[in-house]
Amino acid sequence: MFLFLSLVFGIIASKRSSCSDIRVVDLSHVHGPEPFTAPFFPQYNFTIVNRSYSPFLGGNWFESNYIGTSEHSGTHIDAPSHFYRNRKRMHEIPLEKLYGPGVIIDIRRQVSRNVNYRVRVSDIRRWEASYGRKPKGAVVLFNSGWSSRYPDPFKVFNTQNTSDITSYQFPSYEFNAITF
Ligand SMILES: *[C@@H]1O[C@H](CO)[C@@H](O)[C@H](O)[C@H]1NC(C)=O
Ligand SMILES: *[C@@H]1O[C@H](CO)[C@@H](O)[C@H](O)[C@H]1NC(C)=O
Ligand SMILES: *[C@@H]1O[C@H](CO)[C@@H](O)[C@H](O)[C@H]1NC(C)=O
Repeated sequence: MFLFLSLVFGIIASKRSSCSDIRVVDLSHVHGPEPFTAPFFPQYNFTIVNRSYSPFLGGNWFESNYIGTSEHSGTHIDAPSHFYRNRKRMHEIPLEKLYGPGVIIDIRRQVSRNVNYRVRVSDIRRWEASYGRKPKGAVVLFNSGWSSRYPDPFKVFNTQNTSDITSYQFPSYEFNAITF
């Protein structure tokens, strides 16, 4: 599930792009009054700490906030250590691995027929048949349409009982598609 959510980020750029023709797309879900956090994690906490003219700062305006959140809420990336012991944590992943030419493969139709759809190599091949080979090192995003379910945890986890993790249903990937 989290692997799936983790791919919902991206920088879309053309193959040989200069800075000026890079298109940056913000795919973030809002952390707000209705934040999305898995029910068994501590919930998002935004607290105003200062919003006043401060006597400690010569009467100048001072604003600051406290933010508390569990990992794995909203749009995020999962480090390999999330599911594999002793694997890389976020700070150990080189930044260069986190951006690059972007490819979006639309799987909304497949997911609308089967919420447990697993992305297949054939989905990638079909994209390549229309658009050409995906660039080397490309960040490949699959658009499952699942984002429209946020932030309702019953819809996101597709369950009647969010406390029962075994009841969750959501699209994911076939192993071959990940390593393709
Ligand atoms: C949110 O954080 C503030 C500041 O640390 C704390 O006072 C408050 O109790 C927290 N609220 C919840 C619901 O955890
Ligand atoms: C910010 O708010 C805290 C808590 O009310 C207060 O102790 C602190 O002095 C404030 N900081 C400034 C610079 O005004
Ligand atoms: C929801 O799942 C939890 C964990 O499996 C279980 O303890 C609880 O009884 C379930 N609630 C309902 C209404 O089925």
